[in-house]
Amino acid sequence: MVVGRGSWAGGVLRALYRRRPVPLPQSIRGRVPDRVRDAHALRAAALAGGLIPPRPMHSETEARTLARLCRGARRVVELGVYEGSSAVMFCRALDRGAELHLIDPFVDESGAALPPGWSSTPTAARLTVSRAAWRGGPRVRWHIARSQDVGRSWTAGPVDLVFIDGDHSLEGCREDWEAWKDHVVPGGAVAFHDARLGRAGGGGGPGPTEVVDGLFRGPRLPEGWMLADEIDTLVVVRRTLRPAGPPAALTT
Ligand SMILES: C[S@@+](CC[C@H](N)C(=O)[O-])C[C@H]1O[C@@H](n2cnc3c(N)ncnc32)[C@H](O)[C@@H]1O
Repeated sequence: MVVGRGSWAGGVLRALYRRRPVPLPQSIRGRVPDRVRDAHALRAAALAGGLIPPRPMHSETEARTLARLCRGARRVVELGVYEGSSAVMFCRALDRGAELHLIDPFVDESGAALPPGWSSTPTAARLTVSRAAWRGGPRVRWHIARSQDVGRSWTAGPVDLVFIDGDHSLEGCREDWEAWKDHVVPGGAVAFHDARLGRAGGGGGPGPTEVVDGLFRGPRLPEGWMLADEIDTLVVVRRTLRPAGPPAALTT
């Protein structure tokens, strides 16, 4: 079926895009049994129609930290979108002229990205994010693909912030770092989610934690990078203007 500008299906899609969502009250949502709440097709339909908000995947403090990193950013990339909760937050935090790239294959290849039985669909996530970006939001670009592949063939320009929250396996997260770090501008940042397992006040998964610990808690930091901030499960690393090392005056 072709969904053209004049077709009724196109009209329905446009109406869904533009409609201000009226989520079901929490008092009703709270009474829905887990097996119904997690039923794939039902959840996707409710999300697409704006009846439920995307499942929150970050804390309030993590959201505030990410929003602060968005200030003045021209291009932000999110690896791993799921239902769009952080993408919606990015839409609210970014300026109108900024670009938000959202990357997710919507397939949990390694099985480490989501709890068993959880999944999302590109259509539901797109509709959710489109509503958030409809007026005054950033320009949103979708990539339904593995973030590592998108990073390796990236030509869209330098990036101010990369939010790594996709494949949570050790290999997948390490590959994301390798594929994306060189696209970050000096002064820009990479934020690893779920990367503080076993740390006080932290949490997350073994994969991202091991990647961050290996890179940023050892004797030698990656050249030109520093650990900038940590909050809850989030670790922010920043690309320095010069390669890391002793100040020039102290160098013999
Ligand atoms: C923890 S969820 C992301 C949560 C999202 N950032 C949020 O705040 O709502 C992980 C997502 O990563 C996606 N994913 C799995 N492998 C991926 C890959 N190789 N590249 C990009 N995303 C991937 C999964 O499909 C899933 O939607």
